[in-house]
Amino acid sequence: MTSLQPDSAEEVRQIEAQAAPTRFARGWHCLGLTRDLGDGKPHAITAFGTKLVVFRGEDGTINVLDAYCRHMGGDLSDGEVKGNEIACPFHDWRWGGDGRCKQIPYSRRVPKLARTAKWQTLEQDGMLFVWNDPEKKAPPADVTIPHIEGVGSDGWTDWHWYSTVVHTNCREIIDNVVDMAHFFYIHGGLPTGFKNIFENHIATQYYRSDSRPDLRGGEGPQILGTTSVASYYGPSFMIDDLTYHYDYGDQRTILLNCHYPIDADSFVLQYGIIVEKPAGLPDEDAVQMAVALGDFVKMGFEQDVAIWRRKARIDNPLLCEEDGPVYQLRRWYEQFYVDVADVTPDMVDRFEFEIDTTRPREAWNKEAEANVAAGRLPRLVGITQ
Ligand code: FES
Ligand SMILES: [Fe+2]
Repeated sequence: MTSLQPDSAEEVRQIEAQAAPTRFARGWHCLGLTRDLGDGKPHAITAFGTKLVVFRGEDGTINVLDAYCRHMGGDLSDGEVKGNEIACPFHDWRWGGDGRCKQIPYSRRVPKLARTAKWQTLEQDGMLFVWNDPEKKAPPADVTIPHIEGVGSDGWTDWHWYSTVVHTNCREIIDNVVDMAHFFYIHGGLPTGFKNIFENHIATQYYRSDSRPDLRGGEGPQILGTTSVASYYGPSFMIDDLTYHYDYGDQRTILLNCHYPIDADSFVLQYGIIVEKPAGLPDEDAVQMAVALGDFVKMGFEQDVAIWRRKARIDNPLLCEEDGPVYQLRRWYEQFYVDVADVTPDMVDRFEFEIDTTRPREAWNKEAEANVAAGRLPRLVGITQ
């Protein structure tokens, strides 16, 4: 005789989750803006399970070294920039950007093995990047960060930049690339189109949305919807070409979303926004608009963070037909966590997937209209609740 126990072990989906990897992704990681990191002072960055020191020498080059001095372990980020070198606060050993000790003022000679770890850097579009590679190889020429149109030009505002620490493994933020449904429930958008393409080290999300009728209203210009093309170039750096459709016309913005791991269970999330200055709008108003949009985006990230803070790590998400390709995305992401020799075709081959938004749109419109009729606001994590 078989017993029908609804919660017997075989019938309950179990959440599977291995510990987050202690290895850090191979790729270019943005550490922040050069205007902040390149001011001539040493800066401490806790990343990749260690501590780094970032400093700009007198020659103008920004260098990144391991923060701990190979002499007796002093913290170079507490030191001082002298010429093109960073001087350790403990005994004044001078370290150059190439990782070599150049001088020990109190000693006749520098020991032959006086060499510390240096990180390959890239300065581009006002940002500082470092290349992380557990195999210690140089970055391949085709794995680059593309230039961003608009940065530094008169027609666009300067970066409006945010940085925050998130206490979870960074795979959570990557999952967002394929997650259409959360845009409705978390960010208050009404997705009308959603597609992903993964190929080599690039993962792209094409997203269109209408604004939710139950969130419209109030004074001032109304957002009717958004069009967004967002690509990860490598494991941690996303450029989002994001246009807001207002009732009076379109507003172009570039939104950056990047992070670097502190350790296996925390990362620094950074995002920046530049806004195309609308013709006829004084500079000051355009900056105000960038700030306002930046704050709006900030709210969006905080909603994600509120979810991440409480959610479980899950290796076997249970998906429905209208969900995005989480498993394929994670295969793509895996390429950055294995040796180059172990990268397999299923991690890098072109993969396309478009979600049919017909059914979700119907359901969401109905839900939003019911809210309008009842005069109530939707429940949005961190905003209306
Ligand atoms: S520990 Fe750095 S100089 Fe001695
Ligand atoms: Fe999100």
